[in-house]
Amino acid sequence: MVPSPLAMAPWLELPYDIQNVTPEEEKVIRKCLIGYTKTFVKCGKKGYVMPGAFRKHAEAIYNLRVRPDDIWVITFPRSGTTWTQEMVWLIENDLDFKAAKKQPLYERFPMLEITSQIPEIAFELIKANFMNLGYFQGLNHAVKVPSWKTIDEAPSPRFIKTHLPLSLLPPSLLNTAKVIYVARDPRDVAVSYYYLHKMVSKTLMRSTFTHFWDAFRRDLLPMTPIIEHTNEAWELRHKENMHFLFYEDMIKDLPKVIREVSKFLDREYSEDQVTQLADHLSFKSFQKNKTVNNSANENGEIQFIRKGEAGGWRAHFDAKMVVQAEEFLSTKLKEFNSTIPIHQDSGPPQSHS
Ligand code: A3P
Repeated sequence: MVPSPLAMAPWLELPYDIQNVTPEEEKVIRKCLIGYTKTFVKCGKKGYVMPGAFRKHAEAIYNLRVRPDDIWVITFPRSGTTWTQEMVWLIENDLDFKAAKKQPLYERFPMLEITSQIPEIAFELIKANFMNLGYFQGLNHAVKVPSWKTIDEAPSPRFIKTHLPLSLLPPSLLNTAKVIYVARDPRDVAVSYYYLHKMVSKTLMRSTFTHFWDAFRRDLLPMTPIIEHTNEAWELRHKENMHFLFYEDMIKDLPKVIREVSKFLDREYSEDQVTQLADHLSFKSFQKNKTVNNSANENGEIQFIRKGEAGGWRAHFDAKMVVQAEEFLSTKLKEFNSTIPIHQDSGPPQSHS
């Protein structure tokens, strides 16, 4: 077993503080999320929202020793993480489709902070209500052993997924390991995030999309604020170890993205191989792939791999929300003097075939 880096590296104190959200904010959050026993918190100046349990794990995560052969995929939730993980894992593993089919993605590419994100009460309820959820993202294991510890002790090369923004991650990350950041139009993210919570909470979900959207644009859902999250990576997009990509570009031209990511990872594939990988990653094949989409409900109605569209938000936003979204995005981007092209009007929904 790899000796615990935590025992060897100098321990860094958190450079940010963690504060409870206000009681009014707590009310808004709790209407959208169920099963958490602790008060939600905000981290650092940007106020990243986390379940209260994050307090206990934040330092260990910040101090995780990064290895030069690690590959990290960082995203705001519902931005195409799973899709990107499978692409990256296969590119790095000589397109070993057989191995990919044998082992669930959450084991090949575990999530760093998942232990701190699991609803404490709801886990049992969710397990009872949901066919596969004990296995979904490795939750059964992550409730027993902190996910960062499992990753800390894992052999190299490691593939690490995280939804945490860069400022909450080990400061040595970008100077040490390769990072792929995926961004997506926040309006599509909001819709997809809503369906994820609906799927997980099933009938226990009390929020409508209107309420959920309100919490989202007020930066009160876990991992928000999304613009700050994305902008942190966008500002570092030219760093040698950073590859910044957009979900919408994967929808538009997946083979092109595969070629670019392969280049970033110093791998070379023929056009036939790129096509083969693109086929494996196509929405249709992905939705049927149990090692990545293992959370269908009993009727197969709601799935982790859900719609796979760019611009699908239009079907969920009324006129008022459209204006709110426009204001939210343009105000924030201006405030950060940011040029991230994440809310160009994409026309009718586009899906990857
Ligand atoms: P929708 O809910 O809008 O369909 P994450 O993995 O970060 O949670 O992202 C999930 C989103 O990525 C979901 O969006 C899901 O359908 C979409 N997605 C996953 N695999 C995809 C694929 N092969 N093609 C297109 N979209 C995909």
